[in-house]
Amino acid sequence: MKKPLIAGNWKMYMNCKEATQLVRTIKAGVYKFHDVITVICPPFTALTTVSDELKDSEIGLGAQNMHFETEGAYTGEISPPMLKEIGCRYVILGHSERRTHFKESDSFIQKKVKTALKYSLLPIVCVGETLQEREAGKHWEVVNRQIDQSLADISGDEITKVIIAYEPVWAIGTGKTATPEQAEEMHAFIRGVLSEKFGEETSSKLYILYGGSVKPDNIESLIEKPNVDGALVGGASLKAESFAQLVASSAASSKVGSAS
Ligand code: PGA
Repeated sequence: MKKPLIAGNWKMYMNCKEATQLVRTIKAGVYKFHDVITVICPPFTALTTVSDELKDSEIGLGAQNMHFETEGAYTGEISPPMLKEIGCRYVILGHSERRTHFKESDSFIQKKVKTALKYSLLPIVCVGETLQEREAGKHWEVVNRQIDQSLADISGDEITKVIIAYEPVWAIGTGKTATPEQAEEMHAFIRGVLSEKFGEETSSKLYILYGGSVKPDNIESLIEKPNVDGALVGGASLKAESFAQLVASSAASSKVGSAS
């Protein structure tokens, strides 16, 4: 039985002062929901501040990106041990905004996944097709390739630490959510792909999050789907009230203890 996982991706929003205020209000709003794994991913500059605020909390801290090397002459980059040092447990890798604006490829993302695991960071690996790809009927092929290549050379042990986030690019920040049926069929497909690679038992335990315009008014219909294990949330994670509501709704529809 899995606890639902709700992760907030703050993107390039929130200075330290705003982050402090936001995390304090989120803490007050979610502290009683022990059956939900709550994660927040602030921008790099606010990670230390938020980490300090989370010392006495069950909320997990994540970064939004990292380099795959431990250290070196990589101006402007942040390494996995640097993230570990300040209390990060999670790291978002291969977000579509990084694939699009910074030309990150699947093989580049794969290197990051490998190093994240080496440093005991739990990678949230993002996959998802563009609208053009979906309209051309290529969404299965695209997501299959992204899973295959970004998780190449990952062992059966390592995969148990990997979280997948299916985020159709056309649903991110657009207000157009995939229907619960569209999300479920892609999540089931992803689980099938993972099952072929790592076996059915392992695959059934893996977390597959949905991301793309998740809001308090659509979370329930998404999370009740059997293959949707949680959500990666952008816009709605920037307001404490809506983020706390997402956590509360997920707790209410939690599959923990159910027969599924
Ligand atoms: P959104 O972003 O919830 O604002 O659509 C999701 C994401 O980019 O992870």
